Amino acid sequence: MEYSEKVMDHFMNPRNMGEIADATASGTVGNPVCGDIMKIDLKIENDIITDAKFKTFGCGSAIATSSMATELIIGKYTAEALEVSNKAVADALDGLPTVKLHCSVLAEQAIKKALKSFYEAEGRMTDEFAEKFKILGEDEHDHGDDEESADEHACCLHDD
Ligand code: FES
Repeated sequence: MEYSEKVMDHFMNPRNMGEIADATASGTVGNPVCGDIMKIDLKIENDIITDAKFKTFGCGSAIATSSMATELIIGKYTAEALEVSNKAVADALDGLPTVKLHCSVLAEQAIKKALKSFYEAEGRMTDEFAEKFKILGEDEHDHGDDEESADEHACCLHDD
């Protein structure tokens, strides 16, 4: 399995790892198949994400995507961060092996879960925003990606 230099860099030297003690919002999601867990803390000031930190118990791709995802959302308005898809995170890492693409879904879900709790706490959850949280699904521990097949989760069953 070939990983890009950026994936290896973010795996070996993760950015923004840790927790924010006075986080404005947090999101924790899990992959039901491999058991990997990702938590993202956000500090939001004047609707701008001024800090983001993550803790990921998971594979190298999950750690690299968490790291890149935090870099992509820091400095963005919350509505802009909502547009950061798992594909955008994977692209920013110069791609992920196909069987590891699902790992990047965790990062998008964790960001969206944190932003959902932020909007709900602020009383700002509109229908337009609700539409953007579909990836969390009814069961928020689900991958939320209908196009993924069981085969694409096969990597979760292996050490890597
Ligand atoms: S997130 Fe579980 S194998 Fe990558």
